[in-house]
Amino acid sequence: MRQNACMTKFAQPVIRWQKNSGRHDLPWQNTRDPYRIWVSEIMLQQTQVSAVIGYYAKFMQRFPDIATLAAASADDVMRYWAGLGYYARARNLHRAAQVIQAKFEGEFPKTYDEVWALPGIGRSTAAAICAFAYREPRAILDGNVKRVFARHFGIEGDVRSKAIEDAMWLIADREVPKKDIESYTQGLMDLGATLCTRSSPSCLLCPLRATCVAFNEGRVAQLPGKSPKKETPHRQTRMLVMILANEVLIERRPPTGIWGGLWSLPEVALDEDAIGVAKNKYAVVLVKGRRPRPMPEVEHGFTHYSLTIYPVEIAVAKRGIACEERGRLWLNLSDVAGAALPAPVKKILRTLKGNF
Ligand code: ADE
Repeated sequence: MRQNACMTKFAQPVIRWQKNSGRHDLPWQNTRDPYRIWVSEIMLQQTQVSAVIGYYAKFMQRFPDIATLAAASADDVMRYWAGLGYYARARNLHRAAQVIQAKFEGEFPKTYDEVWALPGIGRSTAAAICAFAYREPRAILDGNVKRVFARHFGIEGDVRSKAIEDAMWLIADREVPKKDIESYTQGLMDLGATLCTRSSPSCLLCPLRATCVAFNEGRVAQLPGKSPKKETPHRQTRMLVMILANEVLIERRPPTGIWGGLWSLPEVALDEDAIGVAKNKYAVVLVKGRRPRPMPEVEHGFTHYSLTIYPVEIAVAKRGIACEERGRLWLNLSDVAGAALPAPVKKILRTLKGNF
């Protein structure tokens, strides 16, 4: 079965295809700098290349090396991540930079186990970093690769289950080539992202079709098996858009949980008295005779639930002392774009900008 001593029938076509037809000019390619590669791999977790490219350029410009990232404030790091989602990634990246400064004298660790042990780096990300930066043959396994494996090897069952994941890691390890690990790793990623897509795979262009179980048995649409569908819950919240001149009151969210570490608008439950909260909790003096103005609602999808935001604009005549507490500040509307705010909050505030 083996074509040569260190290359499986699976790896060889992937490598050849990547060299001829894969992606070669992504901003994090053509470098061996583990820092640049690490940042890209974290940004690319659960996020498409097209969404990452702009963020990556700005992040690397502001934080060109580990020392700069480690020395930055958490707020500054969050500002550069705002809108990309999954904010634990940014917190872990920042923490890991500080660990590297403290434990490895600022040099990105050289061994797979040390890389894997850093905050925010799992088995697959450690493998990708070591493959791209050190040419070390290690196996990756992310959502796209699972889809390629499920189809090519005809693996039934829920790819998110532990049993299937364990089986796939065995395959991933078995197929790793001893040479050309960069082309193989990038090739698997590129195949999953561009040809072996979820809903309309381009099998006729695929270098693996001769050996692909799903293609040869006409089961491409059935594999990978679907996870049992869970209803995603729906939540609602009201956001207080307290406006004074051209400034809006924002507060820092708790470090963990949704939008952890970002700034956002104060929130109340839909059945809460928004004006009462503005007056009592934030101690603002409202503009007399001006009613709160409901703004257009905004929908936002998270992995585990969907959220409808009902913003309400509240005209403020005078700031209260409670607004100056730590973790609260008045943000000028012209600074919204560069602030560490979640995307839907920026969207709400952008609609206001023209009015002030
Ligand atoms: N997804 C995860 N890592 C990637 C990479 N290096 N290139 C393209 N897509 C990816």
